[in-house]
Amino acid sequence: MVLTNAQIEFYRKEGYLVIENLLDERDISLVRKRLAQFNQYQDLPSVICDDNNEIRSVFAPHLNDTVFDAFYRWARFVVPSQQLVGDDIYLYQYKLNLKKAFAGISWEWHQDFAYWQLDDGVVKPDMISLMIYLNDTRSYQGPLLVIPRSHRFDVVAFQKKKMLDEAVPKEMDLIHSLGANLKYTVNEKMLTSLADQFGIKVLEHKAGTGIFFHPNLFHASNANISPYNRDTAILTYNSIHNLPENTNRPSYVVCQNTQPIVPIPDTAELTSQVLN
Ligand code: SIN
Ligand code: MN
Repeated sequence: MVLTNAQIEFYRKEGYLVIENLLDERDISLVRKRLAQFNQYQDLPSVICDDNNEIRSVFAPHLNDTVFDAFYRWARFVVPSQQLVGDDIYLYQYKLNLKKAFAGISWEWHQDFAYWQLDDGVVKPDMISLMIYLNDTRSYQGPLLVIPRSHRFDVVAFQKKKMLDEAVPKEMDLIHSLGANLKYTVNEKMLTSLADQFGIKVLEHKAGTGIFFHPNLFHASNANISPYNRDTAILTYNSIHNLPENTNRPSYVVCQNTQPIVPIPDTAELTSQVLN
């Protein structure tokens, strides 16, 4: 899949781009089947659970599963991502974010690039994230919320939080980047002002929809108190000319293979043939 100039223009202006039917039903069932197996792997350090013991994120699923190892290289994700970044790309971060029915917890307002710049030492926001919905996702399931055009600012002032003023042990610091109490959140004054100007977009979409979003875009999501799961995959790619300077965080959070991705043919059928 190749993006049109109008789609690229929309992304540059608004900071995100929604592509429906990026996955078809067969792709979704293949991915969902593989996703289910992570319930057995709750003890891995790369599987992050909420306080209620439900899986919140599975990081680097490609290290444990052959389908996920092929998935992030599918041409339909990689080619548009190359267009939006304007360079060859490698896999920077890869996670499955799950919000279990009745139990999934919210994500506070934040910019992803705060973590990548300050914690990992990435210099430029020449990166892209692609969130893929694996269920039909309605307002009551905690869909992605974005503030259009908020990506035009650099990393903005954070909301004041106690842990920012304290010396936090390394393990706790990591939890404050991955868990429900995030350390770098957007300050409320700035957030209110941009929401007043540009509104808040609730990205309710069908399973198989892909949302490309800029690393500086303000985004968040509510708790899932509905009776339906909200499962997603989030692929983050970085320009091969923008490598992080620090290697403090574990390799399941910041991938260490910086080789440019060679896109592969990407139908579920082909993938299962290749892998089985
Ligand atoms: C994120 O901001 O990385 C995740 C948001 C979500 O899963 O809703
Ligand atoms: Mn985020």
